[in-house]
Parts: sequence; structure tokens; C-alpha cells
Amino acid sequence: MRTQVAIIGAGPAGLTLGRLLEGAGIDAVIIEQRSAEYVLGRIRAGVLEQSSVDLLRQMGVNQRMDAEGIFHDGIELSFDGEMLRVNFNELIARRVMVYGQTEVTRDLMDARTASGAKSIYEAGDVHIHDFDGETPRVTFTKDGQTHQIECDFIAGCDGFHGVSRASVPPSAISLFERVYPFGWLGVLVDQPPVAEELIYAHHKRGFALCSMRSLTRSRYYVQVDSTEKAENWSDDRFWDELRARLNPDIAESLKTGPSIEKSIAPLRSFVAEPLRFGRLFLTGDAAHIVPPTGAKGLNMAIHDVMELATALQEFYGERSDAGINAYSGNVLENTWRTERFSWWMTQLLHTFPDSGDFGRRIQRADFDYLAASRIARQSLAENYTGFRA
Ligand code: FAD
Ligand code: DHB
Repeated sequence: MRTQVAIIGAGPAGLTLGRLLEGAGIDAVIIEQRSAEYVLGRIRAGVLEQSSVDLLRQMGVNQRMDAEGIFHDGIELSFDGEMLRVNFNELIARRVMVYGQTEVTRDLMDARTASGAKSIYEAGDVHIHDFDGETPRVTFTKDGQTHQIECDFIAGCDGFHGVSRASVPPSAISLFERVYPFGWLGVLVDQPPVAEELIYAHHKRGFALCSMRSLTRSRYYVQVDSTEKAENWSDDRFWDELRARLNPDIAESLKTGPSIEKSIAPLRSFVAEPLRFGRLFLTGDAAHIVPPTGAKGLNMAIHDVMELATALQEFYGERSDAGINAYSGNVLENTWRTERFSWWMTQLLHTFPDSGDFGRRIQRADFDYLAASRIARQSLAENYTGFRA
């Protein structure tokens, strides 16, 4: 088999890149180790920046998003129950959209099926080869047979645990990482959301987030120790803990019910440098991880592949290397800006086991500064809705 671009991974990065390349007339094959159903079963992010919404529209995968996505003008912050609204629309005339990663993934998969573009699911033992030369290859097994795809480029869209980054010689790559001593326990429930907008709550018992997927489906999170197991959390225990971390009036109006999904996500900040190795590019979670507090992971993945698709279009259309040479530097600039913001939101809102009373007073001062300063709120708004230099 031969293609121009072999895309490893059918998460948001791989599927978006596939769609962009298809639109540009560049041939690509997606190789994914899991089944399509498994990929769609993962409950992850929920907030899209305007630029992600715009791109999904530009790619023609917006029908369901425009019908079901919900625009939010801002978010609520809560500090020990004290509320502070940050109205992005009023502060900087920008908004975000609540539309789940699962739905984005489904829309992109459906569009790919409709157009007949090639995807290989349940590929085993995926390996990438010779990306330091002119003719890279991907090998994998499927239905008991070994297959090989020759290509011009490999796009590593295979997430944090994928094979792409792991195939780079350690001497050629630098890794920057901070692992937080806690995770998020998330619950999905078929009940209307507790508030019209998302609530990010700091509490001395730990962080909590009230989010949503639709007007009838809510997503809630509480910060838990990184050693916790989801099995140890009955629904009742979860709801009690969530209520304890919210403003009492909001806690009282919370509508609970049986959880339809419950899982723990670890929190990590991580960046790999550089992001291009010959004819291999790293994108999305293969390249960087942010703690979920700023709702950035999915949006960064989409931004990376927009940059890569433009670079590849320049390569094939204009025979210019300029875009592929600039890819790593451009993406890293956006990555570190977003890493800083996600780290800052995490720092402001979580309870850290070792920071003591001094750390709590600093968090309070940060919250009070936001409440007092329009410029501070504008900065939050600019970053949350997606700042591009
Ligand atoms: P992924 O979505 O991870 O996709 C990578 C794909 O590659 C997967 O389908 C995987 O099966 C496949 N793959 C892996 N290895 C191989 C291989 N060897 N061969 C072939 N295919 C392979 N962000 C938020 O903003 N808010 C959240 O609440 C949130 N929750 C999260 C919860 C979890 C448990 C995780 C892991 C992430 C969460 N994120 C969240 C982050 C966000 O979901 C990611 O940033 C986003 O999914 C990145 O997209 P991606 O396509 O780069 O990677
Ligand atoms: C969701 C996740 C986030 O990390 C976030 O910041 C906002 C919303 C969510 O899953 O709905």
C-alpha cells in the first residue's frame, strides 16, 4: 500500500488532519489500534474554542454541532463558595462552545466514512520506520496478516502513550514534565446541568467542576488523590463530595442520578521538543499534555493539525519546505503559552498537599485580584477562549 501521509491514531488530531488533507487533495490513511466503537466510548473534553468551531465549519462537519452545541458567554469561578462570573463576551467579545469531544469525533468519523477515505481500525503491533529518510513506512498487523504502508510523511497523532514519540531516539528529543499529585474523578449523568455556565470551584476539600454535554446531560468532576480508584466512589459518595465543594445554594439545586460513566483522569503537564524528526511530525497529545483545567487539550490538538495541514499543502502545492520547517517552532510557541495558562488555572483552583496556609492565601489573593481587576479577567478570558499571537 502507498499513500502520501500515514496518520497514526484516530483521535481528534488524526481525524481532523485526515479531513483537512482530504479537502486539499492529499492522500492519507489513518491507522488506529482500537476499534471505532472504543474510540467513541472514551468520555473526554467538552469545550471548543471559537477557532475550533470555525475550523469544523470550514471542514463541513458542523451540521450537528450547529444544532446541538451550546455557546457560553463565560464561566463562573467559585472560591470556598464565593462566586465570580467571568463574562468573556462582555470582556473581549469572544465565546466558547460546549460540544463534547465524543461528538466531534463521531462527526469526523461519519464524514470520513461518507467520503470513502481509508481508515484502518484495530491495527495491531503498529511500528513506524525510516522517517529520517525519504520513504518512511508503517507496518502493522490486521486479521492475522502483516501489512506495510509506504508514505512521504508520518503524522504521529497517537496520543500520549502512542508509538510515534516512543520511536524517536532519546538523544534527539527533550521532554519537560510536571505530574500533579491528584487526578479528576469524572461522572456523567442524565440530568440537567446545575447552572447555565460551567462552574470551576476551588475549595479547601479540593477542586470541583460542574460542566455539561447538553441541556439534559451533565458532567461533574472532583479532585481526588492520585492513588484513588473510581471503584471506591459510590454515586452517593461522589454527590456528597461535590456538594461539599460548591456554594450551598448551588449544591442544593444540584440534580443527581445514577452515573452513566465514572472514571479518573491523571493530571500532567508535558511537552516534547522538537516536534519534527525528518519526515515524522508529532501532534496533539503525542506532543504535549496539559492538565484539563483550562479545557485546552482538544483545542491544542486541532490547532496543531491545522498548522501541519497548511505545511503539507505548501509542500505538495508549492514544492516549498518552509511550512514543514516552521511547524515545530510555531506549534511549540502556542504549546508553551497554553501550558502556562493550564498550569496557572490548575494552580489557582486545586488543593496542593504541600503548599500549606501560605499557598492557600496566595490562591485567595489571585482570586481577589481577578474579582477586582477587569484586566486580570480579560487575561483569563483571552487565554480561555484561545489566544493566538
Ligand atoms: P487521543 O485522543 O489520545 O487520540 C490518539 C489515538 O491514537 C487514540 O485513538 C489511540 O487509540 C490511538 N493510538 C494510540 N497508540 C497507537 C498506536 N500505537 N497505533 C495506532 N493508534 C494508536 N481534555 C480536556 O480539555 N478536558 C477533559 O476533560 C479531558 N479529559 C481527558 C481524560 C482522559 C482520560 C484523557 C486521556 C484526556 C483528556 N483530555 C481532556 C485531553 C483531550 O481529550 C486530549 O487532549 C485529546 O483527546 C487529544 O487528542 P489526540 O487526537 O491528540 O489524542
Ligand atoms: C470539561 C472538561 C474540562 O477539562 C474543562 O476545563 C471544562 C469542561 C468537560 O469535560 O466538560
